[in-house]
Amino acid sequence: MYILGIESSCDETAASVILVAKDKKLNVLSNVISSQIEIHKKYYGVVPEVAAREHVLNVIPVVNEALEKAGIKPADLSALAVTAGPGLVTSLIIGGETARVLACAWKKPLITVNHIEGHICANFILPKEKIHFPALVLTVSGGHTNLVLMTDYLKYEIIAETLDDAAGEAYDKGAKMMDLGYPGGPIVAGYANDYLKANNGTAPKSDIVLPRPMLTSPNLNFSFSGLKTALLYQLKKDKNWKKRIPEYCYEYQQAILETLIGKTIKAAKKYKVKTIMLSGGVSANSELRRQMNDAIIDRVPEVAFSVPAMAYTTDNAAMIAAAGYFKYAKKQFTPWDEFKVDCNISFD
Ligand code: KG4
Ligand code: ZN
Repeated sequence: MYILGIESSCDETAASVILVAKDKKLNVLSNVISSQIEIHKKYYGVVPEVAAREHVLNVIPVVNEALEKAGIKPADLSALAVTAGPGLVTSLIIGGETARVLACAWKKPLITVNHIEGHICANFILPKEKIHFPALVLTVSGGHTNLVLMTDYLKYEIIAETLDDAAGEAYDKGAKMMDLGYPGGPIVAGYANDYLKANNGTAPKSDIVLPRPMLTSPNLNFSFSGLKTALLYQLKKDKNWKKRIPEYCYEYQQAILETLIGKTIKAAKKYKVKTIMLSGGVSANSELRRQMNDAIIDRVPEVAFSVPAMAYTTDNAAMIAAAGYFKYAKKQFTPWDEFKVDCNISFD
């Protein structure tokens, strides 16, 4: 069966066709993404009105390209899956309405997918070993930081969330403070990697001292806004900070990663999970992957570790089509005339 996924929750217009073979493995036939990063760069963030206009221009060409690359026609599709939220309402509505109208015109079932659920389902795309439940998912993106307990496919419970900024937002805001560009995650990560390489893989002790927010607190929630303020104070009292960018990026990234990893391991022990999964844009971070893997081996060696393929970490539509497949299997369709986007939708 073929499923078309459409994603437009923020600043990427994306469409993808996946093929689910008889063995139930999820093969991505096309994964088309039209990114607006270049347009939003100068504002250091996404401007909703501008994003919406770009989605309007891009959505149909992107859908056409996804079908062409997959070598299929609309009639071959089993269903259309689309992100219904969370996200920017003006962005969501473009992909959402397009999917609804196409599903209606092509007489195909419509499946609505939660964006975070999509990120999680990126872990089920080939090449993948079977994931053993219960699984704990650290979802880390520009808008979300959650620990999600998954007891089965489509069964989610949010056990922790951020009380303020998301991890990706912390990267983006830190980069903005140091005037490094947007999106901040890959830029800060790049400098941090350079710093590690320059020091042969072991960073020397630094006088840049940043907190690990809520790491020792009894609950599992996150908070990153204080870390951002701590960075601001460090920069203010250091006249030489512009000459120490790689070191600042390394120390700032470590504060984020140690917090994420510490909380995840704590939750894995508490809920006795069999697998730890990463998802969302920040899961593209190679140090997060490496340090989480080391922490699992060291502290919960019985737990398996799963990360999505790089292509499915930041926003894409293959992950939406993948989540769509699991809902298709349970016949969880949304009638064409009942579809609506919801920017604060929950999924547990
Ligand atoms: O999942 P995503 O594409 O969009 C949202 O759903 O928010 O995530 C985007 C976020 C941005 O904050 C970006 O800075 C961050 O993911 N990001 C990274 C890396 N690549 C993207 N953060 C750290 N390291 C990376 N390599
Ligand atoms: Zn996302």
